[in-house]
Amino acid sequence: MAGNVTPEKIMELAMGFGGAKVLLSAVEFGLFTELAKGPRDAEGLRAALGLHPRAHRDFLDTLVALGMLEREDGLYRNTEATDLFLDRAKPSYVGGLLEMANARLYPHWGRLSTALKTGKPQNESGGDNNAFDSLYAEPARLKQFLAAMTGASMGAARAIAEVFPWDRYKTMIDIGTAQGCLPVQVALRHKHISGGGFDLAAVRPVFEDYVGSFGLSDCLHFHTGDFFREALPSADVLVMGHILHDWNLDEKRMLLKKAHDALPEGGALIVYESLIDDERRTNVRGLIMSLNMLIETPGGFDYTGADCRGWMAEAGFRESYVTPLTGKDSMVVGIK
Ligand SMILES: C[S@@+](CC[C@H](N)C(=O)[O-])C[C@H]1O[C@@H](n2cnc3c(N)ncnc32)[C@H](O)[C@@H]1O
Repeated sequence: MAGNVTPEKIMELAMGFGGAKVLLSAVEFGLFTELAKGPRDAEGLRAALGLHPRAHRDFLDTLVALGMLEREDGLYRNTEATDLFLDRAKPSYVGGLLEMANARLYPHWGRLSTALKTGKPQNESGGDNNAFDSLYAEPARLKQFLAAMTGASMGAARAIAEVFPWDRYKTMIDIGTAQGCLPVQVALRHKHISGGGFDLAAVRPVFEDYVGSFGLSDCLHFHTGDFFREALPSADVLVMGHILHDWNLDEKRMLLKKAHDALPEGGALIVYESLIDDERRTNVRGLIMSLNMLIETPGGFDYTGADCRGWMAEAGFRESYVTPLTGKDSMVVGIK
C-alpha cells in the first residue's frame, strides 16, 4: 500500500506559485492581447514583448504546458479561453483581477506567515487602517482595483442577472458597486429595471465611465455615500457583492441591519461572495479568499451560507435562501 503513495500532489501544490507567476507575468506583458491579433513565432513575441533572449522559449512553452497557449509548427496562438478572457481589447477581459494579483496580492501573500502570526494585514495599508483609504490614495491603484473587481465579479453578475426573479421588481441599487459590473449586467438583460450603484465619492468617475461605455447612463445612476456614516439608499432590491467579507462580524451585522432598514416590505437583499461550504471542507477558493481578507483588511473574513442566513435572520429578514452561481460563487437572498 505504502508503495503507491507518492509526494506528487504535495510537490505540485507547493510549487504551484511558479505556474501562477508565469501566467500573471504573461498578462502583465499583454501576451494574450498580442496573440489575439494573430499567431506569432517565439522570436516575434520576444521582440514584441521586449523579453531577454535567455528564457523566452521556456516562458512561452510553460504556458503551452499549462494549457494557456497552443503551439503548432513553431507558431504560438491563444486557446479559446485565453483569447476570450485575457485579450484586453475584448469586453469579456477578466485580466483586471490578474493585473492586481500580479502587482499587489502576489508580493503581499509573500508575508502570509507574518499575517498568520500577528493577525495584521500585510498590504500597503501598513496595519490597522481602513483598507480602502490606502488603496484609493493613488488614482492608478484605485482604477486598477475597481477594474479588478469587474474581472472578479463578471461571472457572478451574469449569473445573478439570469437566475434572480427580476420580473418581480422594478428598482435595484448595488451597494459598494465599484465600476458597476453587476448593475450593468442586470440592466443589459432586464430593460424594466432601473437604479444604479452606491459607493465612495472617489469611485464616481470610474463608475460613470464604465456605465457610459454600455450606453446605460440614463437608467443607472451613481449614489455617493459612506455606508458606515449614512443610511443606505432604498430600492426594491439591494445587492452586496464582496462587501461583507471586507469587514469584521459587528460591521457585517451593522451593514445587514442597514440594508434591512432601507428595503421596502417584500424587498430583497442579494449577498454574493465565494461562500465557504457549510462543512468548511471543499470550497478552496472561498477559504483562500478568506485568507486574502486577512492579508488585505484589519478584520474581514469570508463565511458560509449558513452563517449569512443566521445574520440575516438576526437583522430581521423573514426568509432567506442560498443559490449557487458560477464556480466558486453563490448568492444568499434575504427577503424583508
Ligand atoms: C471588494 S469591493 C466589491 C466591489 C463589487 N461589489 C464587486 O463585487 O465586484 C468593495 C467595494 O466597497 C466599496 N466601499 C468600501 N468602503 C465603503 C464605504 N464605507 N461606503 C461605501 N462603499 C464602500 C469600495 O469602494 C468597493 O467598491
